[in-house]
Amino acid sequence: MAVLVTGGLGYIGSHTVVELLNNDFEVVIVDDLSNSERFILKNIEEITGKKPFFYPFDLRRRELLTQVFDAHQIEGCINFAASKAVGESQLKPVDYYENNLFTLINILQEFKERGISNFIFSSSCTVYGQAEKMPIDENTPLKLPESVYGKTKQMGEEILIDFAKAHQRRISLLRYFNPIGAHPSGKLGELPMGVPNNLVPYVMQTAAGIREKLNIWGDDYDTADGTPIRDYIYVVDLAKAHVNALKKLLESNEQTVIDIFNLGTGKGSSVLEVVRAFETANDVKVPYQICPRREGDITIAYADAGKAEKELQWKSETPLEESLRTVWKWQMYLDSQMA
Ligand code: NAD
Ligand code: WQD
Repeated sequence: MAVLVTGGLGYIGSHTVVELLNNDFEVVIVDDLSNSERFILKNIEEITGKKPFFYPFDLRRRELLTQVFDAHQIEGCINFAASKAVGESQLKPVDYYENNLFTLINILQEFKERGISNFIFSSSCTVYGQAEKMPIDENTPLKLPESVYGKTKQMGEEILIDFAKAHQRRISLLRYFNPIGAHPSGKLGELPMGVPNNLVPYVMQTAAGIREKLNIWGDDYDTADGTPIRDYIYVVDLAKAHVNALKKLLESNEQTVIDIFNLGTGKGSSVLEVVRAFETANDVKVPYQICPRREGDITIAYADAGKAEKELQWKSETPLEESLRTVWKWQMYLDSQMA
């Protein structure tokens, strides 16, 4: 029996593949390399000493997906494949709806036709928008996200809930807060294509001299130092949560399971705190300037991850500085590959 991991060469997917292989799962990756690189596969093999199956194609190509399901005994799927740039999603809404939803629907058609259960979906805390109270638990009311990207996540959740109910299947919706960090080996990490949108990749590139200065998008928020607060979760911890979520579905005696988990640390950090932690952790300078607010940014979001702790026996415990050290190690690795 095998687990299909779509987007398994991407940032969170590659770390999760490592954890799955370390837990003796047989892994089948489908990734079209639209936002990843082939060397990631080699590095996964080096780290684990195991070889996942790999199919490089676009999941919108249903006929190729059917062949993968014919070739392997798939018992579940972790679906990471998606386009994820919030700003780009506003400029290319149709492309985002197509890539994030057609791919999901293609996999669900295979699941439906073949009677397969156990589906894990990469969702996001973006489905909560600016919540009224902190921390955010799973009962916090959802808000229609402002971005097209966010809407694809909320729609994906709805599609899966309808699928689970109609066909008696087991699904898990994992709402990530802000994933950061890299593999401790330094061989896997986030590959920002072009100018990074997210904070930590931008900090990393500024420290490395690729960017001149970090633009801090506003210091006039209603927080202690005026910069927004997020829940930065270490990617290896996040990857491990997927293994626990998958095992929970596989071991369940229920036909229909709709799990929803917030995956975060439960602790909020401001932008300035992240910058200082990065400087301390790596003994480097991160020059920055304060700029006007970025449109669509919220003030504060951090998780109540108590449900995941109780039901998945999982907790993110890696301190911020430690995960930021791995980011620098990853940058050093990328530099060494360029040299
Ligand atoms: P990523 O871009 O690094 O990984 C996604 C992978 O999917 C890439 O390797 C890409 O090549 C592949 N892919 C995209 N479209 C495909 C298609 N049509 N067919 C085949 N492969 C395709 O992104 P990530 O940061 O690892 O995110 C993984 C998932 O988690 C995404 O669904 C994302 O929306 C979600 N998520 C990410 C974050 C975050 O901050 N990184 C936060 C919340 C949720
Ligand atoms: C964090 C903080 C910025 C860059 C986004 C998506 C969300 C989810 C995670 C997928 C904010 C500040 C950032 C920079 C800055 N992704 N910042 N200068 O906005 O919490 O969420 O990624 O699901 O859907 O919207 O993360 O890393 O972009 O920003 O000052 O160059 O860092 O203003 O306060 P965000 P982020």
